[in-house]
Amino acid sequence: MPYAQVAGWGMAVPSRVVTNNDLVEMGLETSEEWIETRTGIRQRRLLAPGEATSDLAVTAAQRALEVANVHPADLDLIIVATCTPDHPVPATASLVQDRIGAGRAGATDLNAACSGFVYALSLAAGQIESARVRQVLVIGADAVSIYLDWQDRETCILFGDGAGALLLQSSEEPGILSTSLGSDGSGASLLMVSAGGSRFPTNGDALRNGDNHLVMDGRQIFRLAAQMMGKAAEKAIEASGLTTEDVNLLIPHQANGRIIEAAAKKLGLPPEKVFANLAEYGNTTAASIPIALCEAIEEGRVKPGDNIVLTSFGAGLSWGSAVIRWGLPLPVEVSSWRRWRRRLGGRWSAFRSSLRKRGRRVRSFMDRKYN
Ligand code: UT7
Repeated sequence: MPYAQVAGWGMAVPSRVVTNNDLVEMGLETSEEWIETRTGIRQRRLLAPGEATSDLAVTAAQRALEVANVHPADLDLIIVATCTPDHPVPATASLVQDRIGAGRAGATDLNAACSGFVYALSLAAGQIESARVRQVLVIGADAVSIYLDWQDRETCILFGDGAGALLLQSSEEPGILSTSLGSDGSGASLLMVSAGGSRFPTNGDALRNGDNHLVMDGRQIFRLAAQMMGKAAEKAIEASGLTTEDVNLLIPHQANGRIIEAAAKKLGLPPEKVFANLAEYGNTTAASIPIALCEAIEEGRVKPGDNIVLTSFGAGLSWGSAVIRWGLPLPVEVSSWRRWRRRLGGRWSAFRSSLRKRGRRVRSFMDRKYN
């Protein structure tokens, strides 16, 4: 059975920064201090006028392909986890597929709100493990700012927009060790945008009542998220055959710093094994986990052989967790570089330094794969 390995990663956030102070200056009845101490968020990135979810998804996807040195034409499948597609129809994944030039790839969206990325990762890994496909681009991209009521201080302070992508490849080495998914639709109304679908199409009444906005029972969601993110992670860790002592890094959904602390506590993980970047981006829904993973990689918090646990909770209600063994993937390009290395024998070092002189991209590719 082939395994699914992470071979590339990329993220994108809008350039527009909105700080806590900006929200106060907009007239919201809150304070910088309240937002930071109760949530851990200092600022968020919001779409600029004219920007859409797929714009962020495309950039994140292109970065992931570049890291893996994979041509878009070699992709088999693209899954975009989003609850804020560009349009109700067609799928945002199809727009991404066209714009990155992935001519051979199937493309579909998946909506599990904040848990969407873990769901997409789980389904993508299953496709690779069943040998139906070899390369899948998994993207989490959301712009929940489109649903926010900027007078509702319980919701509008929390969210930001962004996208993150992982390229999964078929490999002989284990990568995605396990996943665990769950849902409880009886809690649907706790976090909901009620209009805009078949039950309540967006019409004049819906707009007048504000039914196009996100509403949330913050306290209940807080309580359940703190509980379920830890529980989901425990299940995935057990399914992977590991114990919490084997975990090198926890990448939780970035909803609230206090929820992250509670989840880490439930798992018995010290703060240095937990990654958080919500201070900069807020809760970016399906993008929060891949964005956090990208930043953890860039900060050198991830090494080959590490066991990384992703865990999430969100609307649905839905939750999910995944355990990843970080390893060196063996993409086609790497095998061809290896052939070169064999052919060049003793002249390999001279060849490598001549390439190094040619530019940073080649250098970083070579360093990543061979040092
Ligand atoms: O991805 C999943 C999506 N969402 C979440 O995970 C969010 C989960 N929930 C939360 O993060 C928190 O419940 C909130 C940040 C939304 C609220 O924080 P809290 O510490 O649970 O506050 P609270 O709801 O217990 O409210 C305490 C007080 C209330 O005032 P009173 O009734 O005690 O007078 C609120 O009205 O804080 C008030 N409050 C605020 N005050 C200043 C609520 N929001 C704000 C605000 N600024 N932005």
